[in-house]
Amino acid sequence: MSDTVTLKINGRTITASAGSTLLAAAQSANIYIPNLCSNEELTPYGACRLCMVEIAHGKRTRMVASCIYEVAEGLEVQTVTERILNVRKLVIELLLARNPYHPRLLKISHELGVQASRFKEDVKGCILCGQCVRTCREVVGVAAIGFKGRGRTRTVATPFDKAPADCIACGSCAYICPVKVIPLEDKNNVRTIWKTEFPMAVCKKCGRPFAPEKQLAYFRKIANLPENHFDTCIQCR
Ligand code: FES
Repeated sequence: MSDTVTLKINGRTITASAGSTLLAAAQSANIYIPNLCSNEELTPYGACRLCMVEIAHGKRTRMVASCIYEVAEGLEVQTVTERILNVRKLVIELLLARNPYHPRLLKISHELGVQASRFKEDVKGCILCGQCVRTCREVVGVAAIGFKGRGRTRTVATPFDKAPADCIACGSCAYICPVKVIPLEDKNNVRTIWKTEFPMAVCKKCGRPFAPEKQLAYFRKIANLPENHFDTCIQCR
C-alpha cells in the first residue's frame, strides 16, 4: 500500500500522507481551514465543527469535519462553499454566545463576516473544545478532569466537582486552552488550579518556587532521571 495519497482540494492536486486528516493535508498545502478543537498532538475530536468541508462522492457532495476525516485517493474537497460558510457562521455565532470576547473567536467571526451572534448570550467562557481534557489524559497521563453533563449544561469539571485527586497542578490544561478560561494562579509559593491549592517546591540552588511539589513527585516517578534532577529549577540545572 502506498504511503501517500493524491487528492484535490479546491481544485489543486495535493499529495498527503496516507492516514492523515483532510485538515492536516490542507494545512501542509497552505490552505486555510478555520479550526478550534484540533491539535496535532492530540487525538482528533471533531467537537467545534468549524473545520467543515465538502467532499464529493460522484455527483453528490457531503459535509465532513476535516479534522477527523482521513484523506483518500482521488477525493475532491472544497473548503469554501456557500453551504460550508453558512455552517461556519452558525458555529461561530453559537460559540460567540458562550464566549463573546476572546480575540481568537473574534478573529474567526471577522473572517466569516459575522458581526454579532443571533443567539442569546449565555457566557460560559469554555467553548467545549476538549483540548484540556485530552491533554490531561493523553499528554500528561493523569485524566484529572473530564466532561460533565449534556447540552447546555455540559462543562469541563473535576470528578464530582471536588478537589481533583489525580491533578498534579502542571497547568497543561490552562496552557492548551485556546480561549484561556482555566484559572491558574501562582502566589505565595502556592499554585491554585481547579479551585485547589498545591504547594510549590523551592529550587535548592536559587531558592525560588518553580513547580508544584505534586508535579515533581509525578515526574520523579515516570522519568528515568537521577532522583535529585528535580531538586532545582530549569535555570539552575
Ligand atoms: S477543528 Fe474540526 S471539529 Fe473542531
